[in-house]
Formats: sequence, C-alpha cells, structure tokens
Amino acid sequence: MNKLEVKIGSLTLKNPVMTASGTFGYGDEYISLLDISKLGAIVTKTLTMEPRAGNPAPRIWELPYGMLNSIGLANIGVHRFISEKLPILRDYEATVIANIASADVAGYTEVIKILENEKGISAYELNVSCPNVEKEGMAFGADVETLLEVTRRCREAADKCLIVKLTPNVYDIGSLAQAAVEGGADALTVANTVLGMAVDIESRKPRIPSALAGYSGPGIKPVNLAKLYQVRKAVDVPLIGCGGIMNYRDALEYMITGAAAVQIGSGTYKNPRLAVEVIDDMERYLNEKGIDDIDNLIGTMK
Ligand SMILES: Cc1cc2nc3c(=O)[nH]c(=O)nc-3n(C[C@H](O)[C@H](O)[C@H](O)COP(=O)(O)O)c2cc1C
Repeated sequence: MNKLEVKIGSLTLKNPVMTASGTFGYGDEYISLLDISKLGAIVTKTLTMEPRAGNPAPRIWELPYGMLNSIGLANIGVHRFISEKLPILRDYEATVIANIASADVAGYTEVIKILENEKGISAYELNVSCPNVEKEGMAFGADVETLLEVTRRCREAADKCLIVKLTPNVYDIGSLAQAAVEGGADALTVANTVLGMAVDIESRKPRIPSALAGYSGPGIKPVNLAKLYQVRKAVDVPLIGCGGIMNYRDALEYMITGAAAVQIGSGTYKNPRLAVEVIDDMERYLNEKGIDDIDNLIGTMK
C-alpha cells in the first residue's frame, strides 16, 4: 500500500506534493535535476490562449523572508505548450495540472476546450488572481459573483478535475471559496501570492516597476495557512495548501490544518530538488509516527 496516496476530486495522486505554478516552468527544464514522475503533480506555468512576453524587468526582488514577483503571466501560449512541452511530460509520465488564466471569462473556457482532448493533462487549475478587463481590472478571485461565473463556465467546459486557486488578498476568503464550490470546483488551492511592495530609498522608485507585486516564500506561510484554516471551515472539498513551504514540516502544518495536498513554489528556487525531498521526508515522518496512511493525518489539528 502506498501510504502517501491522496485523492483530489476524481484525481488520485501518488503523493500530496506538487510544484506550484510559475515556479517550475513547464517541468521539462527540471528533468536533468530530478525524476519528475515522482512528484504528486506538476502545475504548469499559467497558460493563456496567446503567448505573452510578460512585464518589463526587473520582475523579481529578493527579500529576507521571500521574494516579490511581477512576471505578468509570461508564457508560450496554450498551442506551443501542447506541441512542444506536453509530449515531453507524457514521455516522463508526469502528472500534469494545467494552470489557466485569461483577461475575460470566455478566454478561460476557450483554453480549456483546447486542452480538454489532450492526453496527459489530469486537471485544470484556474488562476483567478489576474485582472478581469470586464470588471475594471478587479481580480476574478476578489469578487463573489465573478468567481462564481468564471468557475461555472469552466465547469461546463471541463470534464477533467477542476481546481480553483484562490487569492489570499481578500478579507472574507470563506465566501469566495463557497462561490468557487457552488460554481463546480472539485478542489481549491489556498493560495496565490500576497500583495506586496518594496521601495529603493536612493532612487525612490519601487523595486518592481509596476510597484505592486506578489509576495511569496517563508514570510507568507502564516498568512496562507490562516486562509486555509478559514477556507476549511467554509467548504467541504479537498484543499491544496500553498505559500511558504520550505520543508516537510511546513507541508505537514498545512495538511494537519486540513489540506489534502500541498504546492511548493519559491522553495524550488532555493533548492530545485525540494519537492522530492519533501516527499521522502514525509514518508519518513509517517513511518516514525507509525501512521500507515496520510489520510489519517489530514485535518487532524486538535
Ligand atoms: C516567480 C513566480 C512566478 C509565479 N507565477 C505564477 C503563475 O504563473 N500562476 C500562478 O497561478 N501562480 C504563480 N505564482 C504563485 C505560486 O504558484 C504560489 O502560489 C506562490 O508563490 C506561493 O507559494 P510559495 O510561497 O511556495 O512560493 C508565481 C510565484 C512566483 C514566485
């Protein structure tokens, strides 16, 4: 019996450890560094219909407890992903979750329709932290009605498992989680980057040209863990914890709080093999504690 196996909706994962979107490319760049088939899943960089160059540099600023980024969804577009990357991921038998975004609701469903018949994609993860041009640039994931609408439309288009990745930059994340579940989400990722900023006191310019950026890494773990706790109380679907996981202990904090799986993002920049090390360390922890199934740990916070 594989004691690390977990279920995310219709999806069975060999273990609960995924790489987070945008921090592991399309997976292929890591083949020389680790066995990508060992990962619970690889979440792709956000895919959009058309290729995107992203924001002007500098797009990253390192901080004592993490980093700021404003990449601007740079990606090769869904068609090149299918022709150039997906065949490699299939060859290596990786479990792939396609992360998707668009500037309008119809764009999400169009990308899903293109991916729906492709072999080698197990689920979709909707990145709803990006601006919605139909709602004056407000993030899809920051408004209950919009989130309900985008999730519902994607649910209609998708037979595969549908995951919504929530933004932590809202006060009442429970209501947004409920909207996503009402719209048909099978699972929720909690959460994306926290809004952040840094200023150079010599030039008096923001460190990232767009000023506002996404904060990730160890500094956000308590924030996203609290969000996961709030979401756990609001809905009853599998949750995927994300934010500041730097080792197996961080991952287990999310799982004990109620996450069925976790995603590792910025940690991969420090150690490209971190996700596989977390898998091994988790197994060792279960053995040491005499726990024969990781399901017996999920949501057991006292
Ligand atoms: C450089 C960078 C690029 C990212 N790109 C994406 C992206 O394209 N889509 C997305 O949904 N999240 C993206 N994220 C957010 C991560 O997937 C993750 O949710 C966030 O970084 C929190 O996890 P961490 O603290 O482990 O990094 C990005 C994060 C970083 C640091």
